[in-house]
Amino acid sequence: MADALMGDRFLVTGANGCIGAWVIKLLTAAGADVVAFDIGTDEHRHRLINAGELPAVTWVRGDLTIRDDVVAAAEGVTHIIHLAALQIPFCRADPSHGAAVNVVGTANVFEAALHHGVSQIAHASSIAVYGRASDYAERILPYDAPRLPTTLYGVYKVACEDLATVYWHESGVRSVGLRPHTVFGPGRDQGMTSLPSVGIEHAATHRPFHIDFGGALDFQYAPDVAAAFIHAARLVVDGAPTYNLGGHRVTVAEFVEAIADVTGFDQITTGVDPLPVVEGADASPWFEHAGGAAPTPLRTAIQASAQVFAAAN
Ligand SMILES: NC(=O)c1ccc[n+]([C@@H]2O[C@H](COP(=O)([O-])OP(=O)(O)OC[C@H]3O[C@@H](n4cnc5c(N)ncnc54)[C@H](O)[C@@H]3O)[C@@H](O)[C@H]2O)c1
Repeated sequence: MADALMGDRFLVTGANGCIGAWVIKLLTAAGADVVAFDIGTDEHRHRLINAGELPAVTWVRGDLTIRDDVVAAAEGVTHIIHLAALQIPFCRADPSHGAAVNVVGTANVFEAALHHGVSQIAHASSIAVYGRASDYAERILPYDAPRLPTTLYGVYKVACEDLATVYWHESGVRSVGLRPHTVFGPGRDQGMTSLPSVGIEHAATHRPFHIDFGGALDFQYAPDVAAAFIHAARLVVDGAPTYNLGGHRVTVAEFVEAIADVTGFDQITTGVDPLPVVEGADASPWFEHAGGAAPTPLRTAIQASAQVFAAAN
């Protein structure tokens, strides 16, 4: 992919987050110019995945809730990958601020796109637009299963998906939304479903760790998710579709077994109770119609992750 994106300029919001750091690593490796937009200055994920270095990008410290910050950052860009958001606990703790960042912030991204005539946009939705596993008859939801969010975070993601559709109908702004499930790999260090990644890190450095839940999840390797966002931002679509992302639907116990296989360390343990989330949702439209790439094999992904963690410790 070297130089495949030469001449393109990407605005990445939430640049210092897990997915943002991987998106930037892949974009810069492909020769793209990157404007890395984030409210924070925490560089640790970039350093972790780039052998201690920082990528060569234009760093912009800005607040998504301030329209002018986003419009200024989007000057001269050809593509936008919008990842910045507050996660479930932060939205729960401060719903007004959660709505401001996740919903108003997304409106500001679309306003900035409209202002500069950018129509290659990928934005992050989430599996959280769906309800609890018990809300559905199927274990793996069909693509058109109803959205039944049970958290404010999920409600805000529904609003963002629908907001994107309105920008298409009213203003002709194209976009593609993606719904990750459980992202894992280096840099995934925040939130409940980050524990399997923390487990890889502990195994790589031979320290016991307990993941206090069980059940099955759809595990998606952070570099694969990043590549999917880049692919989504480059698609030329008439509309504003949203796709479920697919990875490896395995139990947490199977994930931990794979960790033990590749690291030789078998002191990572799991709980029994599943999280109250759906196990997965049909991602075939993403792979079959939108050209999404097949996921990296699970053990290969865990091995590569363990190597990054081991090198950093
Ligand atoms: N990680 C997952 O498993 C997962 C699953 C489903 C959906 N998603 C979605 O994917 C996107 C990226 O996820 P992630 O794991 O990289 O998130 P993350 O929490 O690691 O990073 C989010 C980034 O957004 C930044 N941010 C927060 N408020 C901001 C503001 N007001 N202005 C500018 N920047 C701000 C933060 O500083 C942070 O660097 C998010 O929209 C998230 O909801 C992630």
